[in-house]
Amino acid sequence: MKYTIILLLALVSLGLVAQEKESKTQPKEVTLSKDSQSDKYGDVPFNHENHSIKKYSPDGQAVLSCVECHHTDQPPASLKPPLKTSERAVLLTTESLAAADAKPVKSCRACHLQAGDDSAPMPAIQYPDKPAPTKLNNEVAYHLNCNICHDKAIAARPALKGKVPGSNDCIPCHKPAG
Ligand code: HEC
Ligand code: HEC
Ligand code: HEC
Ligand code: HEC
Repeated sequence: MKYTIILLLALVSLGLVAQEKESKTQPKEVTLSKDSQSDKYGDVPFNHENHSIKKYSPDGQAVLSCVECHHTDQPPASLKPPLKTSERAVLLTTESLAAADAKPVKSCRACHLQAGDDSAPMPAIQYPDKPAPTKLNNEVAYHLNCNICHDKAIAARPALKGKVPGSNDCIPCHKPAG
């Protein structure tokens, strides 16, 4: 036990376990993009608790389903095209994740790698209106996920303008890097 802790501390100080690839603990607040390769667009604060328990649907009427974002954590039968990858046989919910035999949740970055990282094949998707498949690196995947919903929410409820970052509000959604 003692040695495990010492080893863990050593790995943490080396930065090797700083970015968890999977976990069963739902974060309250996270900072995304801490390792941004951009010299302009840095950290992105994200309140996971707000997005998972408050009424954060575009119309403000419903709590989001976990799989709105964790899209691979649902059974094949509930996937809506163009999604096709399923890595969980039951729908991810707080309750299903609490089961002793439930697998941890993978971070988006476990699959949606940063540009230039070719340690695994990059997820891609064929959209009907595009001539070729779109490669979904972290920048593309997160922007689609966060921005489509925020733009819909602002369109449905103009009072949210200034409270929610729209897709062109690069800063403040990202803190300036440097
Ligand atoms: C609005 C999008 C969104 C919703 C809704 C959402 N999550 Fe998340 N979740 C994220 C993001 C983004 C992360 C951070 C991933 C990262 O660090 O790359 C995350 C991280 C997690 C993690 C930690 C994973 C890790 O590797 O550290 C768990 C566990 C988790 N979510 C479970 C849930 C559950 C259960 C629900 C539903 C009750 C839920 N999430 C709803 C976006 C969401
Ligand atoms: C809703 C918040 C939000 C908005 C608005 C937004 N981004 Fe992002 N951006 C993100 C997130 C989240 C990531 C991926 C974070 C991660 O991989 O940890 C990201 C990733 C990036 C990256 C890649 C960083 C890297 O090297 O991994 C760049 C570059 C970037 N954004 C630029 C922009 C620009 C330019 C705009 C405006 C046109 C913009 N972003 C708007 C949230 C946002
Ligand atoms: C296990 C690997 C994996 C994980 C984890 C993962 N993705 Fe994906 N993602 C994919 C693959 C593969 C696709 C292509 C479609 C498919 O095969 O279902 C995709 C597609 C997408 C798309 C395009 C969907 C569309 O309808 O246009 C978005 C946006 C996206 N992912 C965002 C995220 C976010 C945000 C997270 C974390 C909360 C995440 N992904 C976690 C593998 C993953
Ligand atoms: C499916 C919808 C949806 C998705 C996906 C989503 N958001 Fe949001 N987000 C909202 C709504 C709705 C609000 C505003 C709620 C309100 O104030 O009533 C919001 C608010 C915010 C705010 C303002 C502070 C707060 O917590 O209220 C930030 C920052 C933010 N989102 C960042 C993100 C980032 C970064 C992502 C992607 C990782 C993301 N959101 C994904 C719906 C979404």
